[in-house]
Amino acid sequence: MEDLKGLSRRSLLQAGAVAAVGASGFIPSRFAIGASAKVKVGFLLPYSGTYAGLGEAITNGFKMAMAEHGGKLGDREVEFIAVDDESNPAKGPENTNKLVTGENVDFVVGPVHSGVALGMVKVVRESGTIAVIANAGAGAATGPLCAPNIFRTSFTNYQASFPMGKVAMERGLKNVVTMTWKYAAGEEALAGFEASFTKYGGKVIKQIMVPFPQEEFQANLTEIASLKPDGVFVFFAGAGALKFVKDYAAAGLKPIQLMGSGFLTDGVLKAQGEAAEGILTTLHYADALDTAENKTFRANYAKAFAKEADVYAVQGYDAAQLLLQGMGAVKGDTGAKAELIAAMEKAVIKSPRGAFTLSKAHNPVQDFYLRQVKNGHEVVLSVAEKALADPATGCKMA
Ligand code: BEZ
Repeated sequence: MEDLKGLSRRSLLQAGAVAAVGASGFIPSRFAIGASAKVKVGFLLPYSGTYAGLGEAITNGFKMAMAEHGGKLGDREVEFIAVDDESNPAKGPENTNKLVTGENVDFVVGPVHSGVALGMVKVVRESGTIAVIANAGAGAATGPLCAPNIFRTSFTNYQASFPMGKVAMERGLKNVVTMTWKYAAGEEALAGFEASFTKYGGKVIKQIMVPFPQEEFQANLTEIASLKPDGVFVFFAGAGALKFVKDYAAAGLKPIQLMGSGFLTDGVLKAQGEAAEGILTTLHYADALDTAENKTFRANYAKAFAKEADVYAVQGYDAAQLLLQGMGAVKGDTGAKAELIAAMEKAVIKSPRGAFTLSKAHNPVQDFYLRQVKNGHEVVLSVAEKALADPATGCKMA
């Protein structure tokens, strides 16, 4: 029995290796052994709580890209396993391990929350599992904790907020109040804004932090009104962003220019309605981008899910594009990890946001758009920063 098994493994290997030497000349290392097995993709995403809508959009975007490519990665069928990470950093390592150890996944895709990402990164740095961060902007994941097997198709919190500092000063908003949830994403977003804002002479007169995922803002809005700033810059996302924008308008603060990274309105703009009018944001995506890729993407997404696409759907779509390119290059051989990683590093992603490549730290180098809500739509005013890279301070690739 053992011999028979060994023989069939060997002959399978030979047959697979021959079949796999294609036009690229790439010879997979142990191609046949796993060639017929499904590729396991684990989603570590929030499917409950304030970021539930973001997790759903990333999942949808990823699956849509897969469907457009016959549902296969490197010609192998794909199995999805989803874990609700609940945006709970304390459970980050445990939930990652459900996928990495419990399910033995080939790839982890996610998360949304920066605190969860830091827990995930710890686990995959140990296991070597390839992870594609499809949202969480924690700088450390592509900074001091960077690793060959960790990729990101989204942004760093710094990237998404930095461009707004200059914009605020250009608009004469010199005294600004900043506000966010107190955790890595909020803190880094405010730091990114402040870095450029103060460089151009702006002054942050008050920084307000509330616990995540608190959605009770009344006392803070009263304080903002009393401070009479020229503008307010915030980081909120998902259901919290919806609530904040509505409360801000209801508190009569609309005459004070509200600004943020684009998560403040993306995915929740319709529900925010009139309250969102005039908000200025910077982001690496905008619904209205006038490119063939974006128009096709949005039309297909609306058709498939009866919903409008948003930045989170784009990031999920691009996470799949990255894996499609990597797995295509190694013809589905997940065992050829060095070649797979090399192909992912070289990928050019034709994203609905515009084409982008990855930095040495595996983070997108991409354009950031200045957007403003006008008549219920996110209008693109300009490119606020072209090909902006994260500084990736402390990243030393092994
Ligand atoms: C974060 O935790 O990194 C994050 C969450 C939602 C939107 C953007 C960033």
